Parts: sequence; structure tokens; C-alpha cells
Amino acid sequence: MKGIILAGGLGTRLYPTTQVVNKHLLPIYNKPMIYYPLSTLMLMDIKEILIICNREDLEIYRNLFWDGSKLGITISYIIQEKPKGLAEGLTLAKDFVKGDEVCLILGDNIFFGHALPDLLTQTRQELEKDGGAIVFAYWVNDPEKYGVIVLDEKENVLSLKEKPKYPKSNWAITGLYFYDSKAGGIAQNIRPSNRGELEITSVNKAYLKRGKLKVKLLGRGFAWFDAGTHDNFLEVSDFIATIERKTGLLIGCIEEIAYRKRWMNKDQLMKLAHPLKKTSYGTYLLKIAEGKER
Ligand code: TTP
Repeated sequence: MKGIILAGGLGTRLYPTTQVVNKHLLPIYNKPMIYYPLSTLMLMDIKEILIICNREDLEIYRNLFWDGSKLGITISYIIQEKPKGLAEGLTLAKDFVKGDEVCLILGDNIFFGHALPDLLTQTRQELEKDGGAIVFAYWVNDPEKYGVIVLDEKENVLSLKEKPKYPKSNWAITGLYFYDSKAGGIAQNIRPSNRGELEITSVNKAYLKRGKLKVKLLGRGFAWFDAGTHDNFLEVSDFIATIERKTGLLIGCIEEIAYRKRWMNKDQLMKLAHPLKKTSYGTYLLKIAEGKER
């Protein structure tokens, strides 16, 4: 399975902050926002990752991650000329995906939960075995802002609607999607919605029509944030800061994940940590390398 991070878009809801800086490069507490979706992919052992971004941000992302080899993974990049919608990501990524399964994550989505790595790994395995599409849903107070899913009592998907005026449920579809190799072809054939976007909900509806869409519910033990507005941005930064201060363990620390997965050795981790040693992030990495953190 390969991974795609959608890190383009305009971020208009965060203006004026995002007028010249892409949203995914802004810090959520102590690290760039994009570290969090990247870490979500790494936690399920996805090592081939494509970042889809705006033309003006390509060099910045390259400077940040290079080709991924520092983390023992492969990162490649593709430009999305205009933010035509999430589904376009699947079309743009066709050559990268090359008939493989894919996990698509929105660059402003942050997931947290004790059981998350296991759930992600299980989902990956399930998709690789059965094909189709798998999405996650989270109970929210403001479903009208999201893609909303209606389920029967056995958690089968009955219907999906993008940003409904009168939502039929509180289950919002999160920005983490698993697809089989058919997704690129399906995405290529969808038409823009009334608001002019190539909607990921249209791709999910195509899978539903074929009887191949599954949903997993993220219960109370999980946190999901979409950091697209000023308030959400602050809320998730506070959340990360609170947990990190309380536990002394970092969330979304990509170097730590790569090291614990043995994609890099102690010397490599020390080398990455050294230039950051005056920061709490660098001190943390050094402690991990020295085996002083659990
Ligand atoms: P959105 O939050 O829908 O759009 P946006 O980030 O441009 O923000 P705003 O609505 O405030 O203008 O996008 C969700 C995620 O998907 C976000 O991480 C950006 C990314 N994205 C793309 O990469 N390409 C696109 O065409 C779109 C629409 C979004």
C-alpha cells in the first residue's frame, strides 16, 4: 500500500495567515502540521509516500523532507496546479500508485488514540485482502461541515452526503481513506459538484454503489481534528501541548517513529537530533537515541 498526503489547497479559512504560507507548514504546537498526517501513514508501515502540493510550495516541502531517505522512507512530490478538489489527488497520483492500494490522508487532519496504530494496520490489511474502499467516521456536533454517512444498525453504509444542509446523522467522514487500485480510474470519471469541486464523496459513492464501501467508527477513545479554521487550529495545538506536557512523549514525531520501526539507526537519529539540540524537540530525539525515553 502506498500513501498520499494532500497538502495543497488555498487555506482561505485561515487568511490572512495562509496568504503566503501554506497551511500544512504552520506549526501545530511544536512541529509543522504536515508531520501529523505523515506520522499517521508511517504508523501503518506505509513507506512510499506522495505529497501533493501547490507549485509555489514544492521547494519548501523538498527542503523539509528531501526524498524521505532521512526517515528511511521514500517521499515524492506532485504539483496540483489548482485546488480542484480532493478527488483530483487520486487522478494526479495514478502513475505513483500504479495499480497498488492506497491510503489518502488530508494534510490538515490529525488523529490520536492509544489503539490507533493497531486500527490503522488492521484496516490496511483488511483493504489489501478484500479490496474496495474503507473510510473512518467520527461523531461530531457540527456534521453539516463534513461529508456525512448514514449507517444501519449493523454499521453498513446506507448513504453519504457532502456538507448536507440537514444532516441525517452526526457521523462525519474523516480525512483518511483507504482504496483499492480502482480509485484512480473512478476519480478520473467523476464530475465537479454544485460547488465546483471534484469531491472525494463522489468517489466514495461510486464504491457504495458497487457494494464495496466499508466504514469504521472511531469511538470515544480517539481524537480527530481537522485544523482548517483558526479555532480548530488553536484547539488541536492545545490538545497536543497538553498530552505532550503530561506524558513527556511527543505526538507525530516522525524521527521517533522511523527509529522505533528500525528504519534508521541510532547514529542516524543522533545526526538528525544534533542541529536541534537547543530545542525541546532535539533534546527529546537525543533521549530516544540514548534509550532514556520509554
Ligand atoms: P479544504 O480544507 O477543503 O480546503 P483548503 O485547505 O484549501 O482550505 P479552505 O477551505 O479554508 O480554503 O481541504 C482539505 C485538505 O485537502 C487540506 O489539507 C488541503 C487539501 N486540498 C488539496 O490538497 N487540494 C485540493 O484541491 C483541496 C480542495 C484541498
